Amino acid sequence: MASTSEIVIAFDLYGTLLSTESIAKELASHFGDEKAQSIAALWRRFQLEYTWRMNSMDLYKPFSEITNASLKHALAESSVTLSEEYIGSLMKAYDSLGTFPDVPPGLKIISSSPNISAYVFSNGTDSMVSSSVKKSPALSSHASVFKDLITVEEVRAYKPDPKVYQHLLKKVGKEKDAGRVWLVSGNPFDIVGARSVGMQAAWVDRKGGHHGEGGWTDQLGTLAAGGPTIIVDGVEGAVEGIRNWVEDNGSRK
Ligand code: 2OP
Repeated sequence: MASTSEIVIAFDLYGTLLSTESIAKELASHFGDEKAQSIAALWRRFQLEYTWRMNSMDLYKPFSEITNASLKHALAESSVTLSEEYIGSLMKAYDSLGTFPDVPPGLKIISSSPNISAYVFSNGTDSMVSSSVKKSPALSSHASVFKDLITVEEVRAYKPDPKVYQHLLKKVGKEKDAGRVWLVSGNPFDIVGARSVGMQAAWVDRKGGHHGEGGWTDQLGTLAAGGPTIIVDGVEGAVEGIRNWVEDNGSRK
């Protein structure tokens, strides 16, 4: 039986709804598959590192600039160069990334569940996030399931600064009720950040179950407020898992 209590779910964008690995396909035409994979992985690593470093220095620049600078770092570290023109086209590709296959069925469940309020919650700029939701074929056909696209732009800080999760809670009208708001994210640092402000969190472990890969290995939760509330295999699994969890634990009166 479907629960009728209200469920608020905020979906992380990059690495959760959208696959940043699809950028490797673009790079593969220049560098071959293997090098492209490693540049794409390095790009993502530096992109996140830059957001954390900016937070630590109490500085903010839009995520588009962070993404551009971290790409140049990844290229230099890999001893390759690309023209400014090609870098511009990669940045455009970043605004139309593909979704993971488990995303459309998950969003479909939400579209037929009036008690679920869904949001996108991302480090991206307002313009990057709205263009991704419009241009990604799988997301655009389900765009109406999202009540709002919430970004960190207004806060001028990045995840996992508590200010950005508090901004999310305010936007969804649950400032005083963090334990009723869910983050769905494939990024462990995001999960630990959300738990630290008292939110529930579903970690998307797409590698889980494949040849013993996957599994929650991040240890920072043990020094903070803990790891994921639940671990799921994709966005569809997240929606089902959250629904079940709320039925078992969520009806506080
Ligand atoms: C996002 O905020 C962390 O990249 C991730 O969309």
